[in-house]
Amino acid sequence: MVEVDRFLADKFQKEIDKLTQRCTQLERELERERRLFSGGPTVVFRWVAKEGWPVEYASPNVFNIFGYSDKDFMCGRVKFAEVIHEDDLERIRQEVIHYSNSGAANFEQHYRIVRPDGEVRWLYDYTVVVRDDAGVISHYEGYVQDVTERQRAEEEKQQLQEQLLHAQKMETIGVMAGGIAHDFNNLLTPIIGSIELLMGEISDKDHLKHLRNALLCARKAESLIRQILIFSRKLKEEKKVIRLERVIKEAVMFLRATLPATVKIELNCAEDSAAVLADPIQIQQVVMNLVTNAYHAVSSAKDGIIKVSLYQQDIEEPLECVYNKLVPGRYVVISVEDNGEGIDEGLISKIFEPFFTTRKVGDGSGLGLSVVHGIVGEHRGGIQVRSKLGSGAEFKIYFPATDEECTDIKAVSMSSIGRGENVVVVDDEPKVGEIAKEMLERSGYKVTFVKEANEAIDLFKKQDLEIDLLITDQTMPGTTGLALAKKFRKFRPGKPVIITSGYSDTLTHSVLEKNNIQGYITKPYSMADFISYVRDVLDREKARSL
Ligand SMILES: Nc1ncnc2c1ncn2[C@@H]1O[C@H](COP(=O)(O)OP(=O)(O)OP(=O)(O)O)[C@@H](O)[C@H]1O
Ligand SMILES: [Mg+2]
Repeated sequence: MVEVDRFLADKFQKEIDKLTQRCTQLERELERERRLFSGGPTVVFRWVAKEGWPVEYASPNVFNIFGYSDKDFMCGRVKFAEVIHEDDLERIRQEVIHYSNSGAANFEQHYRIVRPDGEVRWLYDYTVVVRDDAGVISHYEGYVQDVTERQRAEEEKQQLQEQLLHAQKMETIGVMAGGIAHDFNNLLTPIIGSIELLMGEISDKDHLKHLRNALLCARKAESLIRQILIFSRKLKEEKKVIRLERVIKEAVMFLRATLPATVKIELNCAEDSAAVLADPIQIQQVVMNLVTNAYHAVSSAKDGIIKVSLYQQDIEEPLECVYNKLVPGRYVVISVEDNGEGIDEGLISKIFEPFFTTRKVGDGSGLGLSVVHGIVGEHRGGIQVRSKLGSGAEFKIYFPATDEECTDIKAVSMSSIGRGENVVVVDDEPKVGEIAKEMLERSGYKVTFVKEANEAIDLFKKQDLEIDLLITDQTMPGTTGLALAKKFRKFRPGKPVIITSGYSDTLTHSVLEKNNIQGYITKPYSMADFISYVRDVLDREKARSL
């Protein structure tokens, strides 16, 4: 009996040992599988094919990506549909229906989930469709990876590509602008000149009105070209230490004359505001662009008022501006305020983008504010905008003040007339040359106009012909104004030269100085500017030779 018991006990023990061994083996296998599922970046899911996709199984590494544990999902506390980003959920639902109906064995999806801490992650999901014996879908098994970093890199790449495209577009505009501006300015000079000359001769009010309109349009064309040139950084800036008061007064004077009288422009300049290092032409452009915008904003209002102010301000804390922050210091501020239609808050971040406009096609190019932004940036300044839809807008432009000494700009005056000096004008565009000749002759100069450089050289050689000044175009067939000036010097040493140009990016300040050129004037020019500039150059040279 004891023998039998021992025999049975041994047998049981052996069976128990076998089972224990098998259990350990199974546990090891299970552990290996758990490791297989949870050691890597892929989370494994088994979803029930029901509304909300309840989770039957989630691998333990689910916490790393989702912020919920496998138990949170498996006990039904969290349904899968609840973690999908609300903007993606409907799309995902539709995609699952579509793939399921199409009979696909598997499919891929991209979507976002929201973790309990609110963080959003992008996922890549490879789903296998599981069908029962009757062929009905019972489950989905998914392999899910976090691709947030990859997605971010992709978005950055796309942004960089867009920036590159934008830069290329700007470069193309720049190259085009240079060529077009040159030709356009050559057309505009005689147009503006002829109108100005005619206006001096005509007294009929109606005729004068038409001429004034024509002049206005020509000036607009001129300003558009300047905008494009500034925008594409093709205009050389000439910074000087100046006080902004005079520059702003001149710009406002011009605007008052060109904008309809129904719009009031109030000008308030604080006395003795500090000087700034700035290009007066560019500052005028800033004021013109801001006031023009303000004019458009108030044009439909009854009591439209545009207030332009200039004052000095000391900034003690870094000042937040559009696209930059200003360091503490002394600034000179130009403020342009209107009581017009205002700007939608959501659009304020867009208005400085090139080509952004809310005006009708053909009315606005959307370059005005991007030019302002470019100019202010080059002056190391800042811009602030305050506006609400329906209650006006204020643009404040900050320019850093300087302690350097002021080099004041000379007044432009029509009284600066000629004293019978002999001027040779060279321009391959007959219309431009003829207008210049007429402007000068009317102002008391004796003028010889030639179209070709060779003809001019023949004149230089005629020793009995007195020449006090050479005014030459820069870009001419086969030669340049600079080259002609060199020849002029050989025959007429000590006599001044003015170069005129529609557009030239080779003529910098230092190039002109090195070549001993006394004056440079860009086309188109107004008669007043041209005449007073010529006078200036002649007077300066005379004073030097005394
Ligand atoms: N003072 C303002 N009041 C209301 N909206 C403004 C004002 N200034 C600018 N904006 C808005 O900003 C947009 C962009 O201005 P921006 O000067 O760059 O271009 P534009 O005036 O449309 O065209 P462009 O100046 O080239 O003729 C305008 O279309 C307008 O919607
Ligand atoms: Mg504008």
